[in-house]
Amino acid sequence: MHMRSDAVVLFGVTGDLVSKKLFPALYELTRRDRLDVPVIGVARSPWDDQQLVTMARKSVTEVTDEIDDETFDRLADNLSMISGNYADPTTYQRLAERLRDAERPVFYLAIPPAVFGSVVEGLAAVGLADRGRAIVEKPFGRDLESSRELERTLASAFASERVFRIDHYLGKEAVESLYAFRFANRLFEPLWNNEHIDNIQVTLAEGFGTQGRAGFYDTVGATRDVLQNHILQVVALIAMEAPASEDTAAFREAEAAVLRQVAPLSPESTVRGQYAGYRDEPGVAADSNTETFVSTRLTVDSPRWAGVPFYLRTGKSLPGTATEVVVEFKQPQRPLIPAERGTVGLANLLRFRLGRGDGITMSIQAKSPGAEVASRPVDLSVDFGAAFGRRQEAYERLLDDAMDGQHLRFARAETIEQEWRIVEPILDLSTAVQSYEKGSWGPADADALAGGWHTPDLR
Ligand code: BG6
Repeated sequence: MHMRSDAVVLFGVTGDLVSKKLFPALYELTRRDRLDVPVIGVARSPWDDQQLVTMARKSVTEVTDEIDDETFDRLADNLSMISGNYADPTTYQRLAERLRDAERPVFYLAIPPAVFGSVVEGLAAVGLADRGRAIVEKPFGRDLESSRELERTLASAFASERVFRIDHYLGKEAVESLYAFRFANRLFEPLWNNEHIDNIQVTLAEGFGTQGRAGFYDTVGATRDVLQNHILQVVALIAMEAPASEDTAAFREAEAAVLRQVAPLSPESTVRGQYAGYRDEPGVAADSNTETFVSTRLTVDSPRWAGVPFYLRTGKSLPGTATEVVVEFKQPQRPLIPAERGTVGLANLLRFRLGRGDGITMSIQAKSPGAEVASRPVDLSVDFGAAFGRRQEAYERLLDDAMDGQHLRFARAETIEQEWRIVEPILDLSTAVQSYEKGSWGPADADALAGGWHTPDLR
């Protein structure tokens, strides 16, 4: 068992990620008695302790129906601020002074790539990297080469077992449930191959735009923002072989192994879109060619998956919000019972809802009522919220795990490299993005790509 961290340092504490996700996570951990250590915010903005506490309260209030004052005060008592330039050695000296009693601080680097090197060097210079853990967040570079560079920078200061690379999708209960579904059920694994599966669709749809992050988003785009990481993470869990054992190392190896078998994406099978009005948003270049939508076809070169297309799509300002995987099985070999007129055919579907309203729905054929012998799809469905009640949020679990030194839900360096290798051919394409209307399913070419998307259960 690893020893638990005895301090948390949040670099980039004034940023979006901290206010949307990390303060609520720290609050929940405090509520569950999993956090009673100093939490130090570091940023360039001249905030004092009181401003930090005010921001923390505001962000917790935004996600919690009713804030528990006693819990929040316990968190607030642990919060303190260091404001300083990331290139200034005194920033790290002050931090080291504040951490003099901490033996295993964890450093959350929620900072832009441009200052990443300065922070890592600054921590190393005062000896903090030797006894601390580093949590790193995307964007983990901009391509294969820059991600390797980042990895070298990290490795120059932190031993690999003390680096925690976050893809928050791995922290979602419903995403982990894909793994349980596959390997804890005898029922489906024999069917999980190209003999029985026709195609797999992964949709990460958002019914909103860039939500005030347009300046950042315009330098990134949908491929780097979510396809390279979250969507490929989901593909890995759907497509992986059974790990050799129940160890963390075996799981992470199986995940990397399947990504090694994924062919690089091809520009010819990729459709990039941009919603109408995006270029008028503050922070977006007037001639921006950044995609707010991307759809592509992925293949896994393995005996299990040869010939099975994985259709992927993601976008902002789509008809609604949903992250869903649909596994479409092949039609019966001898269709003795015709599909009822007006229904979509005989294919069985498994739908994994990974976002809000998470759960699993299996669509099977039943005899349709009446004299005619025909079948109609009906759903067998479970809603995880109803079945299990409140579950912990991804960031809450991931922070808790990193503080414990547990790597199961974090990506290996090689996994991130493989993900960049896969998307590299479709990064920075010079072909113009296709415009689509807000509230539509993206450019029409994306429909043709999959030859029939299953509409997700939108929230
Ligand atoms: C983040 C992206 O990593 O994931 C956002 O930067 C996106 O643009 C978000 O909205 C989606 O995560 P979730 O958990 O809301 O599905």
